[in-house]
Amino acid sequence: MRVLVIGASRGIGLEFVRQYREQGHEVTATAREDAGLARLQELGAKALALDLLDARQCAGLAWKLDGERFDVLILNAGVYGADKAAPSPPTQTEFDLVMHTNVLGPMRVLPALTDCLAQGAKLALLSSRMGSIGLRTSPNGWLYRASKAAANSVLKDASIAFGGRAVCVAFHPGWVKTDMGGGQAELSPLDAVRGMREVLGKLRLTDNGSFLNHNGEPIAW
Ligand SMILES: NC(=O)c1ccc[n+]([C@@H]2O[C@H](COP(=O)([O-])OP(=O)(O)OC[C@H]3O[C@@H](n4cnc5c(N)ncnc54)[C@H](OP(=O)(O)O)[C@@H]3O)[C@@H](O)[C@H]2O)c1
Repeated sequence: MRVLVIGASRGIGLEFVRQYREQGHEVTATAREDAGLARLQELGAKALALDLLDARQCAGLAWKLDGERFDVLILNAGVYGADKAAPSPPTQTEFDLVMHTNVLGPMRVLPALTDCLAQGAKLALLSSRMGSIGLRTSPNGWLYRASKAAANSVLKDASIAFGGRAVCVAFHPGWVKTDMGGGQAELSPLDAVRGMREVLGKLRLTDNGSFLNHNGEPIAW
């Protein structure tokens, strides 16, 4: 299989690269700094520099991918940002960082992937249960929640645009021990990614446009 992981310098993204490489798949992955690019190369992945906050780099992604076709595409990059509860307002800078990374980023990258989808490709956006409006019971992290709710909308539209050619899903990876999830989190990156890989492997065309937990259970939008 040919796999693309966007935002793979560390955490869940890097673990996707490690596991797919371990299984012998061809992996192309992105990072925005030299240390991350080196980690990807050490795993045997083709490493591309990409910062989602840089419009020119995003526009150049299609050229860098040069019509390559991928069977699995993971849009993983994300930030949590300022940890404020409603109704404490984010600053403009805090808002821009989270919304530009988590929402504008995928909206910039998805067009570049249009010509890179193998027939029947699986495309996953790393969202979060915190983005679910239906399950909302807490006002904490409201900027991150808003960004993931918006990212879900972006994924849903992509599922319609790419429908018939690809199966597009939003994933909640679980609460995962990474720089973002922290040491108290419930799942190791290994288990979270193993679960999502299994789910990706079993996706059918009828799953297009779903919001799924790492174990495949549906999550309310
Ligand atoms: N961990 C959890 O419990 C959890 C729960 C729900 C959802 N998620 C979601 O899962 C995804 C991965 O999370 P994680 O826990 O692995 O987080 P992480 O350890 O903080 O890693 C975040 C990744 O995103 C990349 N990134 C951030 N801003 C970027 C930008 N502007 N351009 C390109 N790459 C950028 C980072 O690259 P740099 O190294 O260059 O910063 C890094 O590779 C995120 O979308 C997150 O929202 C995580």
